[in-house]
Parts: sequence; structure tokens; C-alpha cells
Amino acid sequence: METKVAIIKDINKDIKFIEEAGDIIRDGGTVAFPTETVYGLGANALDEEAVKKIFIAKGRPQDNPLIVHVCSKNISELVKEVPEVAQRMIDKFWPGPLTIILEKNDIIPNMTSANLNTVGIRMPSSEIALKLIELSKRPIAAPSANISGRPSPTEVERCIEDLNGKVDYIIGGESSDIGVESTIIDCTVNPPLVLRPGGITLEMLKEIDSNIEIDSALKSKPTENFKPKAPGMKYRHYAPKAHLKIIKGKNEKTIEIINEILENYIEKGNDVAILTTDENLNKFNSGKVISLGSENNLNEIAKNLFETLRKCDDLGVQHILCQGFEEKGVGLAIMNRLNKAAGYDILEV
Ligand code: TXA
Ligand code: MG
Repeated sequence: METKVAIIKDINKDIKFIEEAGDIIRDGGTVAFPTETVYGLGANALDEEAVKKIFIAKGRPQDNPLIVHVCSKNISELVKEVPEVAQRMIDKFWPGPLTIILEKNDIIPNMTSANLNTVGIRMPSSEIALKLIELSKRPIAAPSANISGRPSPTEVERCIEDLNGKVDYIIGGESSDIGVESTIIDCTVNPPLVLRPGGITLEMLKEIDSNIEIDSALKSKPTENFKPKAPGMKYRHYAPKAHLKIIKGKNEKTIEIINEILENYIEKGNDVAILTTDENLNKFNSGKVISLGSENNLNEIAKNLFETLRKCDDLGVQHILCQGFEEKGVGLAIMNRLNKAAGYDILEV
């Protein structure tokens, strides 16, 4: 299939591209588009055949439900009810990187919800995403716009790399500033439970209800038969082609251990990338040393994370050694993604 690519430079002048993409969504096609978290691959959430195309393009397992993207805070058509606590989250955090799980209405087809009786809904803050949803006049089901298992794209070039020839349209024009996918919170239980950490942090959610916690399943490596509440969390994810290992502990010790492991890999003739912070850039003896950002700015590290994992693959290294980060604020989401990308190969030092 031929994929049309359009880069939006000025949303007013280039509106025709978003109109075109909106028509494609309404006609049952697929469109990759930017959001503030990561790029999404969208289709009409209410059209079973259209949604099926997303699963095929991504190679996504069909038991993994899709998030439905809306352009308004009024979601009464899509869900049975909006509990008061969910309404407070909508008022405070939408538009933004928070997906709220609620009981779905029959209008949401089983292909979108993967046969669950719940649906995850989010109103993104990206200007292009909101315009696309508005002009398509449909809620848009959209997983991240990558081939299943690969790091999520935060730049349009990565969508093209993964999806060219597999989808109808790719819209670019914004890079994803948050860089990790939305926080998912299950509001069908009381107190609500965080199923995936993201840009809206646990600390921010606790201001809505101090009883909110993260799903205990997120705290350790999943066992063989484990069934997570967010079905997608059981799959190996976000993974670069190289072997990734995380080393976490006090800074000086972490650097010492990374240098030891590095020496061993290099001796064996391997190419190695080291993912670290601005502050540590000069502390490694060899390897391709790449900074994710300043240790004082976890938002910057989150924004650069997936793109840097993909760059490591471009470099063709066999191993990536990445320092760990404190699991506070967005650090919780960073470590969740890193752990999954590393298949939980983490060394605490
Ligand atoms: O930031 C984001 O959320 C991005 C952008 C494009 O909006 N989307 C995204 O979608 O990350 P995806 O498909 O890569 O991840 C969706 C996750 C999966 O782990 C899925 O299992 C979970 O959300 N999920 C979706 N609906 C659910 C439901 N009803 N109950 C529990 N988990 C659900
Ligand atoms: Mg994804």
C-alpha cells in the first residue's frame, strides 16, 4: 500500500493535510499522528474493520486493547458512567497524558477493547492530534505507532521507518515532548489503581485521592503465567535490538561497575553504548557514551529515552549499558520502560 506522508509546519496553513487525514479515518483507513507522549497509529475506534487494520500494521497481539482518543471532556457516549474521582482527573489532567479506564458502552466494538468490558480513554494535548480527532468527527483508537515490541516513536522519521507501506497516512510536525506513553489509571476500582506509570505522576494523582497506588504487579518481574490488568504490560516491549542491561545504585559505584562490565565486553570485541547523564559523560573509559539528559531533569531523560534506544540500534552496538534512575516523579515511568526494554536485566549495586 502507498503511504502518504505530510509534515505540518503551520497548523493553520497546512490544515488541508489534517482534513485529508480526518477523511481517511472516517473512511476506515489508518493514520499515524503525533501526540505529546509518543506518536500514535489511529483508526476510527467505532469501526471494527478499521481497528483491525491497526493490529495488522503493527503485528499487535489481538488480546491487547487500544486506547480511545477524544477531543472533548464529555465522554458520556463512550462509557457507562464517569465516577466522581474520574471526573476530577478529567478536569485536572485533560487534555494531557492520562488514560482513564472505565466501563464501556456497547458503541465501543470488541476489536477496540479486546473483548474487555472496559475501555481506556484519553484526551491528548497535542494540537495536531486534537485537530485530527475533531476533523475526523470520530473517537480515534491509537496504540503507539511502532511495530509491536519496538521502542515507541517520538519522531516522525521513526514512524516512517516502522510503518511506511503499512498504513494510509503519516502526519508529522511535532516531536513528542513527554516521550513515554500516558499514565493508565483504572477507575473501575476504588481506590483507582495505576496500571502504567507515565507523564502524570503518582504524586500528582495522589493530590486527587491520596489512596491511589500503583499496581503491585508493576514492582517486580512478571512470572510466566502472570495476567496483568493492562494486557499489554505482559509483552516484551520498547526493546532495542541490542542487549540492554541496567545498572542502578549510588552514582560513583554505578560508574565503577559500568566501567568493569564495559571492559569485559570490549575485550571480547563487542561494540557497546553507554546511556548516562550530562554530568557523567566524561567518566567512562571507552564505548559510545550517550547522554539522556541532565540528572536534574527527569523530564528531559524521559523525552530522549526511546529515541536514544533506537539510535543505539542505528549505531549497530551489541550491548547497551544504561544507568538507573530514581523512581520518583516521571522516574517511575522511565524505570518501568527501561526494565521492560531490558527484559528486567537490572543489576543493583
Ligand atoms: O500515550 C499513550 O497512551 C499512547 C499515545 C499514542 O496516546 N498510546 C499507547 O498505546 O501507549 P499502547 O497501545 O501502546 O498502550 C496501551 C496500553 C496497553 O498496555 C493496553 O493493554 C492498555 O493500555 N489498555 C488499553 N485498554 C485497556 C483496558 N480497558 N484495561 C486495561 N488496560 C488497557
Ligand atoms: Mg505501545
